[in-house]
Amino acid sequence: MQSLKNDRFLRAIRREPVDVTPVWIMRQAGRYLPEYRATRARAGSFMNLCKTPELACEVTLQPIRRYPLDAAIIFSDILTIPDAMGLGLELVENEGPVFAHPVRTEAEIRRLAVPAPEQLAYVYDAISLVRHELAGKVPLIGFCGSPWTLAAYMVEGKAHPGFPTLQQMMMDEPQLLHKLLELLAKSVAMHLAAQRDAGAQALMLFDTWGGMLDDENYKEFSLAYMKRIIAELKYNNNEVPIILFTKNGSRWLEQMVQTACDVVAVDWTISLKEARSRVGKQVAIQGNLNPTCLLEPEQVIRNEVAKILDSFGQGSGHVFNLGHGITPDVPPEHVAVLVDAVHTLSAPFHAE
Ligand code: CP3
Repeated sequence: MQSLKNDRFLRAIRREPVDVTPVWIMRQAGRYLPEYRATRARAGSFMNLCKTPELACEVTLQPIRRYPLDAAIIFSDILTIPDAMGLGLELVENEGPVFAHPVRTEAEIRRLAVPAPEQLAYVYDAISLVRHELAGKVPLIGFCGSPWTLAAYMVEGKAHPGFPTLQQMMMDEPQLLHKLLELLAKSVAMHLAAQRDAGAQALMLFDTWGGMLDDENYKEFSLAYMKRIIAELKYNNNEVPIILFTKNGSRWLEQMVQTACDVVAVDWTISLKEARSRVGKQVAIQGNLNPTCLLEPEQVIRNEVAKILDSFGQGSGHVFNLGHGITPDVPPEHVAVLVDAVHTLSAPFHAE
């Protein structure tokens, strides 16, 4: 395997010294880039883009060509798993993902199976292609949704504020929901391990909707399954690091650390200073600029970056990122400002 020319991201995860703070951006391949929109138009649909390894590879590399980012993330989606399970995923303009066949009854859930790796081979093929094309320039991240977040879309059928159908299932038929979550945990563990085998050098679990739960239900319906997945991935002391992100989850930082993840990713509702003092030296921290800041003028972006770097403070263990995905209305020049600000302004925090 090719050796890495830029290993800042992996070093920061291990809390080893770095020259400057590494940065990558959630949804860095996306609609704010005109070249992404052009490739997406060529693919015809979002799912075709995901399922054509050459095109998925192309859009993965687009932000890496434009900006000196410190990691790439494979272009795919968390909803490829339910798609492989036969739920019929479509991305509807201005509405988001919609499933033709949501699962709500015992019979519907009983019919589901863990996807065979061949059904998601397009993801693994895209990862191999990207690794080859990157030739060690930066590391490549693979990812999955958390079982709870996948179940949210699968039961509701689409993103719906509050996910009322899911909440009802949790209250009325918790055992049925657990059956679904169990199947999803097996599927997620399989998919992450296969991405790692294909060449992913770090793995991220996106728990976008865990933050809607109360304390007890978060632990029972979301965290417990993520913990199981991480335990399975860490079996045999596998060293590929795992990033855990529960959006709106800063209440549970200590519990997230106990999953044995390597990095906790946080949104902007907690300061990095507080996050760092709560997790100590056990894990690295990823985050946490509010994506809305990227709509502001250059000086505001630089100031906000400076505040976040200062909040984390001296030393390694920080991977700069947004607190959630970049939005399609961000001017691409602003991302250049962000990446430059992180690299330039962080150097003093890493001086001897
Ligand atoms: O970060 C990256 O660059 C990698 C690619 C990536 C996508 N989705 C591409 C995408 C990643 C990591 C995801 C994760 C994802 N997908 C999450 C978890 C992270 C989060 O944002 O909370 C969730 C909840 C999904 C489900 C999903 N996929 C939604 C809600 C949407 C529609 C929202 C929107 O922005 O329109 C998608 C579609 C999607 N996934 C797009 C991209 C670039 C937009 C598709 C397009 O119109 O081209």
